[in-house]
Amino acid sequence: MAIRLCGFFILVAASIQDCDGVLRFASYYQDHMVLQKSPERAVVWGYGSEGAQVKFTLSGQYQQKISQATVTNGTWRVTLDPVEAGGPYNVTAAVLNITAVLTDVLFGDIWLCGGQSNMLFEVSQIFNASEELKRAAHYPHVRTFMATLAQSKTEQTDLIGVQIPWSVPPLYLSGFSAVCWLFGRDLYDKLQYPIGLVESCWGGTPIEPWCSSRVLQHCGLLQEPGGGPKVNSVLWNAMIHPLLNMTIKGAIWYQGESNTNYHQEKYNCSFPAMIDDWRMAFHQGSGGQTALDFPFGFVQLSTCEKKSNSDAYPNIRWHQTADTGFVPNPRMQKTFMAVAMDLPDENSPYGSIHPRDKQDVAFRLSLGARAVAYGEQDVAFRGPFPSQILSTPKYLKITYDQKVSVTPSENIFEINCSESESPWDPKAHWVPAPIMQWGLTTVQLSTSVCSPTEQVAALRYAWRNWPCDFKACPIYSASKILPAPPFIANRTPAKVINEL
Ligand SMILES: *[C@@H]1O[C@H](CO)[C@@H](O)[C@H](O)[C@H]1NC(C)=O
Ligand SMILES: *[C@@H]1O[C@H](CO)[C@@H](O)[C@H](O)[C@H]1NC(C)=O
Ligand SMILES: *[C@@H]1O[C@H](CO)[C@@H](O)[C@H](O)[C@H]1NC(C)=O
Ligand SMILES: *[C@@H]1O[C@H](CO)[C@@H](O)[C@H](O)[C@H]1NC(C)=O
Ligand SMILES: *[C@@H]1O[C@H](CO)[C@@H](O)[C@H](O)[C@H]1NC(C)=O
Ligand SMILES: *[C@@H]1O[C@H](CO)[C@@H](O)[C@H](O)[C@H]1NC(C)=O
Ligand SMILES: *[C@@H]1O[C@H](CO)[C@@H](O)[C@H](O)[C@H]1NC(C)=O
Repeated sequence: MAIRLCGFFILVAASIQDCDGVLRFASYYQDHMVLQKSPERAVVWGYGSEGAQVKFTLSGQYQQKISQATVTNGTWRVTLDPVEAGGPYNVTAAVLNITAVLTDVLFGDIWLCGGQSNMLFEVSQIFNASEELKRAAHYPHVRTFMATLAQSKTEQTDLIGVQIPWSVPPLYLSGFSAVCWLFGRDLYDKLQYPIGLVESCWGGTPIEPWCSSRVLQHCGLLQEPGGGPKVNSVLWNAMIHPLLNMTIKGAIWYQGESNTNYHQEKYNCSFPAMIDDWRMAFHQGSGGQTALDFPFGFVQLSTCEKKSNSDAYPNIRWHQTADTGFVPNPRMQKTFMAVAMDLPDENSPYGSIHPRDKQDVAFRLSLGARAVAYGEQDVAFRGPFPSQILSTPKYLKITYDQKVSVTPSENIFEINCSESESPWDPKAHWVPAPIMQWGLTTVQLSTSVCSPTEQVAALRYAWRNWPCDFKACPIYSASKILPAPPFIANRTPAKVINEL
């Protein structure tokens, strides 16, 4: 009876009650959940009376597996044998005649969805929301769970609350993350086995609260005063650390807007370091089950404020790639990125910082996941990126790493014209460079925009907060699905621009 009461309180009061000594699962193990499928082993843990022997049973149509655990320091933990995708199963923990049961449990891939308001952005708020909610009923094997927004000064072992319990869509889906849902749904279309989506995000938050002190120390970001959810590590402590013991397949992330005016210049350190740190921590927390290099996908910032002249958005977009322009790259392995700068939404009732087309964002992410996380061959998931830039006295010739679809533009490319050998000459200036001509994989720009005494010191593409209209950037993949990401290339020191 007591066991049922605890479970009951979790749903009704949306907060985890202290049921000390009573046998129960940790907050995020619930009916209808998804556990990580083979080849990884799912880790399940919970609470019990000190010293009790917990007998753990997994029962489904064809299988029954039993393992044992002892309650130590108030908790027990089992690592299941690998279970193939499918279900449903009942998961039972028993101490003598006391049992705690999870019903309708599926095995599949667990994806964690993190970030700020564009990840929090709900299914009910996107374009075609009612159609998407109706369609969701066709995906009973994509299950959703959301952690309560909570902060803590110390690392928590369990979530402080559950906002949306593990659910079968469309139950509670209207308030669930749209990007997370659409990503999981698109993956399901391809994989055809259960997907578990765990949403843990908070609007308006910079990256620092999501980072452990290891990351902050590494990037010189310690000692931040203030209060609320922007404080260093408080969301890592309350909303990520408690999840470490669960085996997961990967993570997706949509964040960075709040760092356009907060430690912007450190984002090229904090973001890659946070990815490394989460990977290490989830690997350790799951006893080695979650891969040490688990796939990590993210959305490159979209747009906000059409008239903005600030280069904060381009800078963060660049920093999101560890200043290389593309992922995966040597600093950010096993990552994938959805470019979103061509999906602006000037009239969004939620502010232009919150574009309502999340379908394209999620679809682009799912392409990256298929290629990077699932190793599917021949899935195009990156837009065109320059492999060579040649400078002649009359023109710049950019050769892309793939075929391009080009719409001429007068000003999407800009050349930095400089009188001096130093590319950082303060008298240098950025000048729009029209696209003169293009080929299958090349684009040629006029350099006559610089005066005869100046030379090309640098080149940049789409280096604006709001570079194009909706799906109307000048350069896409040949299929026209994937936009070329923004880039900046200097003559020195990297010598990215070669002279003929
Ligand atoms: C799980 O438990 C429920 C209720 O006890 C039962 O109706 C169902 O048949 C069980 N399912 C499996 C797969 O064992
Ligand atoms: C139990 O807690 C004590 C005190 O915090 C600690 O020293 C010990 O290592 C813990 N035991 C286990 C198995 O975690
Ligand atoms: C478990 O067994 C004990 C001792 O036999 C009994 O007192 C108790 O009522 C039982 N509890 C349940 C939940 O059946
Ligand atoms: C990060 O970017 C800043 C400029 O915003 C630059 O000074 C710094 O060298 C970069 N750091 C790394 C690790 O690339
Ligand atoms: C969760 O993982 C951490 C890190 O490995 C470990 O210290 C902690 O005891 C684990 N908690 C449980 C309940 O297994
Ligand atoms: C919304 O639905 C219309 C009609 O089916 C479709 O043309 C449009 O692309 C959809 N919008 C998004 C963002 O999916
Ligand atoms: C380009 O021009 C600007 C002036 O707007 C200058 O500050 C900058 O350092 C130049 N060079 C590069 C490589 O960006």
